Amino acid sequence: MEVGKRQVQDYWNEEPCNIREGEPFPEGSLEFFERIEDSRYEDQSFIHSFVQFTRWRGKKVLEVGCGCGTDFIQFARAQAEACGIDMSQHSAELTRKRLHLYGLEGEVIVGDSENLPFLSGQFDLVYSWGVLHHTPDTGRAIKEIYRVLKPGGYIKAMVYRRFSAMGWAVYLKYGLLKGKPFTSLSHALSQYLESPGTQAYNMKEVKNLFLLFSGLKFQPLPIPEAMGLKGTPFLPLLRFYPGGLASWIAVEGQKLPVSIEKK
Ligand SMILES: C[S@@+](CC[C@H](N)C(=O)[O-])C[C@H]1O[C@@H](n2cnc3c(N)ncnc32)[C@H](O)[C@@H]1O
Repeated sequence: MEVGKRQVQDYWNEEPCNIREGEPFPEGSLEFFERIEDSRYEDQSFIHSFVQFTRWRGKKVLEVGCGCGTDFIQFARAQAEACGIDMSQHSAELTRKRLHLYGLEGEVIVGDSENLPFLSGQFDLVYSWGVLHHTPDTGRAIKEIYRVLKPGGYIKAMVYRRFSAMGWAVYLKYGLLKGKPFTSLSHALSQYLESPGTQAYNMKEVKNLFLLFSGLKFQPLPIPEAMGLKGTPFLPLLRFYPGGLASWIAVEGQKLPVSIEKK
């Protein structure tokens, strides 16, 4: 594994996504997972309407970057044939533990989104929330998602938006306030937002990344409280930023069935 990707993996092994939300309960306990789940859907209730978990009952779903399994168990509860993949062993273990605690079925694999260990044309849905911007070659991961989808299958994903409240908050906190006004937004995000090398895109770049898919819909989402930026002194001012608060972009699309693709 190349150095950049190893650093991403080390970061998420050290601290799987959202585990601080489970405090003060012991990691891996039922109370810990319940606390994480409550916190996620208080802050990001829009995930339910975006994903429509129950719609995937009996369908083959792959979650790329399942983290500690908060959304993944929703697919399992909905009785989807759910498979999760994450490059962090620690995160995958937590997801497995979580399934076990609730008596739910699901397969969880440690692996890389840029080299998905699946045959082509397997899944009805590939879901990936807040993951694709963390891997060094996002385009390659998206091509892999396209490959493993069945013709007619769907992608639902969320990626970070660069010129956003989140982007400017990180710039202000780690660039301007640290006396480094010439730090670019991209550099600040790659250095200080979660794992090393985190990327964020403008709408044009997002459209280009997902070009393979048809019927694309893009939904800018407001900054959630969960971003850990509550302490940023300039955050209230950013509400007046012309681009709005939207820091995340939810993307939906479809891999067209072969007969239509050939037309
Ligand atoms: C911000 S967390 C999101 C986790 C989960 N989707 C959620 O919303 O709670 C990003 C996750 O992506 C995983 N990840 C990053 N790059 C990856 C890659 N190349 N392959 C697989 N997983 C990756 C990390 O290990 C981490 O668990």
